[in-house]
Amino acid sequence: MTAQTWPFEPYKIKMVEPLPVTTRARREEALRDAGWNLFGLRAGDVTIDLLTDSGTAAMSHHQWAALLGGDETYAGARSWTRFERTVQEIFGFRHVIPTHQGRAAERILFAALVQERESEVVPSNAHFDTTKGNLELLGRRAKDFPISEARDPSTRAPFKGDADLTAVEEQIRDGKVPFVMLTVTNNAGGGQPVSMANIRGMGELARAYGIPFVIDACRFAENASFIRQREPGYADVAIPEIVREMFAQADAITMSAKKDGLANIGGFICVNDDEVATRVKQLCIAGEGYPTYGGLAGRDLDAIAVGLREVLDEDYLRHRVGTTAAFVEALAARGVPVLLPPGGHAAYLDARMFLPHLPWDHYPAQTLVDEIYLEGGVRGSELGTVTFGMDSTTGVERPATWELVRLALPRRVYTRSHLEYVIETVAAVHDRREAVRGLRITSQPRVMRNFTSRFAPVAQAEALDPLEPPTRKFATRSARD
Ligand code: F0G
Repeated sequence: MTAQTWPFEPYKIKMVEPLPVTTRARREEALRDAGWNLFGLRAGDVTIDLLTDSGTAAMSHHQWAALLGGDETYAGARSWTRFERTVQEIFGFRHVIPTHQGRAAERILFAALVQERESEVVPSNAHFDTTKGNLELLGRRAKDFPISEARDPSTRAPFKGDADLTAVEEQIRDGKVPFVMLTVTNNAGGGQPVSMANIRGMGELARAYGIPFVIDACRFAENASFIRQREPGYADVAIPEIVREMFAQADAITMSAKKDGLANIGGFICVNDDEVATRVKQLCIAGEGYPTYGGLAGRDLDAIAVGLREVLDEDYLRHRVGTTAAFVEALAARGVPVLLPPGGHAAYLDARMFLPHLPWDHYPAQTLVDEIYLEGGVRGSELGTVTFGMDSTTGVERPATWELVRLALPRRVYTRSHLEYVIETVAAVHDRREAVRGLRITSQPRVMRNFTSRFAPVAQAEALDPLEPPTRKFATRSARD
C-alpha cells in the first residue's frame, strides 16, 4: 500500500452523534469570547474536533461490554487484577500503578525520582507540555535533544523522533541529570517515531551512568508499528514482541491510556525498582487513590485492559497509521507545508512556512490554528511558541524549536470524508494566507500557557496598549539569541 491510499476502516459504525454545523459569523463570535484560544470553545461551536487524540477515541463493543463487567470493590477489585495482568503482559514491568491520566503518572513518578539537589535537568527527545510542566513545577528543567534532521520539517528521515544521544551524554556528564526520558512517539515534534536502536542506545547510556531511563509511552503501539514498517530486521516481528523489546530497555514508564489505551480516561506508571514503586504507591494514595484503582473506576480499568489489546491489532494499526499518512500526503499535495514524513496520530502544519510574513512573537501557529477554525469550524491545537516558548524557571520567552499546528486524529472517530472536508478547509486558508495577520498575548499564566492564555489581533492589541505590548510581560529574547 502506498502512503497516498486511504485504507478502509476495519470496523463498522454502530452508534452516531450529530456534528454541529455553524456559520462564519457564529465562529467569529465564539473565537472572540474564547480570547482567540481554541481551548475556550464549547463543543457546540466545533464541527470537526482535531484538538487532540487524547480521551477522544470511540470504544469498541468489547470495551463497552467490559464496562458492564467492572468491579467497583475499593481494594483488590477483579477489574484491577485484569488490568494489572494485561499491563504486565504487554509492557513487562514488575509494578503497575494506575492513575487517573498520564500527567498524574508524570507528577508522581517525577516526584519519586528527582533528588534533593536543585537545578536538575531532565533530557528527552522532546518533552510534551505536561511533562515539561510537571518537571518545572518541581523546580527542574526539561530539555529537548532532538536529532538534527528533526529540526527540518521537510526532511523525510524514518525516525525523526530519535534523541541526539551524544548531546544527551554531554548533559549527563554535567552530573545533574536525575533520569533520562524518551517520548514515543514524539508528540511535540510531529508524532515522529523513535527507533529501537535509539531506545536501546538511551538504555545503554542510562545504565552506563547509573541513572533511570523513563519512557513516556502514550503512543507506544503506533511507535511499534513504525519500527516494524521502517527499521531493518523488524518487518516480520509481531507488534507485541516489538513492544516488549522497546520496554525491556527502560526502568519505568508513564502512560496515558487516553491515547494508545483506546480509553476516554486513565493512565499508569510501570516500574521495576521496588523502592521507587513504594514511593510511587505512597504518592498515589495521597493524590490519586488506593494503588489498585488510582483514581479510576473499576469499569475504566476494564475498558483500558481491553483497549490495550485492541490497539496491538495489526489491522487496526495499518488503518491508523495509513489514514494519518493519506491525510498528511493529501495536504502536502495541495501545497500546504506539513511536517514530513507523516507521523502516527496527526498532521502537523509548519506555521513558519505557511505564514512566513509573521514574526515569531506574533505567534504564527496560534494565528493559523485560529484561521482554520474561522474558515471551517475545524479545531486543531498550537504546538509552537505559545506552548513551548516560555521557560518558566527563567521567565524568558524565545521561539520554540518547532512552530506547528497539530490536527490530531481521534482514534476510530472520523471518516475519510470528514478528513477531506478538513483538507479543503486548510487549503482555503492557504489560498488567502498573505492576508492573515498575527496575534499578541493579552494575558498568560507562567506555566502551561497554551491552555489559558488570551490573545488579540496585533492591530487591536497595540491599540489597547501601545507602549507595553503584552508579550513583554516577561523578559524576551530575539530569535538570534
Ligand atoms: N505525554 C504525551 C506525549 C502526551 O501527548 C500527553 C497528552 C501526556 C503525556 C499527558 O497525558 O493527557 O493523559 O494527562 N497529550 C494530549 C495531547 C493532551 O493532546 O497530545 P494525559
